[in-house]
Amino acid sequence: MKPRVFVTRLIPDEGLDPVRQACEVDLWTDDLPPPRDELLRRVKGVEGILSLLTDTIDDELLDAAGPQLKVVSNFAVGFDNIDVPACTRRGIPAGNTPGVLTETTADLAFALLMSAARRIPESVEYVRQDRWKTWGPMLLMGVDIHDATLGIVGFGRIGREMARRGRGFGMEILYQDVHPASAEDEAELGARRVEMDELLRESDFITLHVNLTDETHHLIDTDALHAMKPTAVLVNTSRGPVVDPDALEQALRAGEIFAAGLDVTEPEPLPADHPLVRLSNCVVVPHIASASKVTRGKMAAMAAANLLAGLRGEHLATPVNPEVYE
Ligand code: DGY
Repeated sequence: MKPRVFVTRLIPDEGLDPVRQACEVDLWTDDLPPPRDELLRRVKGVEGILSLLTDTIDDELLDAAGPQLKVVSNFAVGFDNIDVPACTRRGIPAGNTPGVLTETTADLAFALLMSAARRIPESVEYVRQDRWKTWGPMLLMGVDIHDATLGIVGFGRIGREMARRGRGFGMEILYQDVHPASAEDEAELGARRVEMDELLRESDFITLHVNLTDETHHLIDTDALHAMKPTAVLVNTSRGPVVDPDALEQALRAGEIFAAGLDVTEPEPLPADHPLVRLSNCVVVPHIASASKVTRGKMAAMAAANLLAGLRGEHLATPVNPEVYE
């Protein structure tokens, strides 16, 4: 008999097809995530869950699923939606999709950086509103990207890809990470590790690439924003709660920083009437950093492979709790 699994949203065929071949699949087909009570009901008795970052996987859900649950496979590199110790306590491996979305995410982060710096959405709106009447010497002036200083907070895979992109624009690269990169990596990427206060003070662009943890929650708060240059641009493609949204709104309104580009927000989604959406110097997109067809296909294939490995009792290729195998 095929194992029963719950897949919490429609994912690309690269992942869905192999799961369908090997499993009896209960697929949530709505565009919106399953409501909590529905999620708790649908996981009952399944052996595997293929989850999204919009599904909270915690004690309650794992209990609702039952002791036969063998694996949780997240369709995302981030896994702050999963209570990892709760999985580990039950001997359940949880997987994520690192690596395959690195460049695509950095591409979008850099696109946000450029959009916010050169006021591209605002300029498009200007033309759409038929306000473009002449070439203007003072019209829609932004800040330069080339030769500027790029401060990267979180120097993992995606942060390093940002360094590569920044180097292409002749930028000076500063980074902060609890784990220093090797001297070889620093030399290859032309990056210099500095303390956070120096990074905030010296950078023209600050881009966030940290996991969301208790330590990084509201890492960018009023004090951090005050420390930035008035010409600084903040980019967040990590997780929304890394930035205090009220503090950011205040800083953008008061001109304490120049602009922000956000792929992730707190709360998420942001309603259209939220002040950050309304501000002309804040570019908000709906958590699309990994959203290229090729990359989402790879993420789906990887999430499926983790799910199927867990069902077979094999080690997941990319477990977030490798300690579960000890
Ligand atoms: C992730 O994978 O964690 C991104 O936020 C979505 O691709």
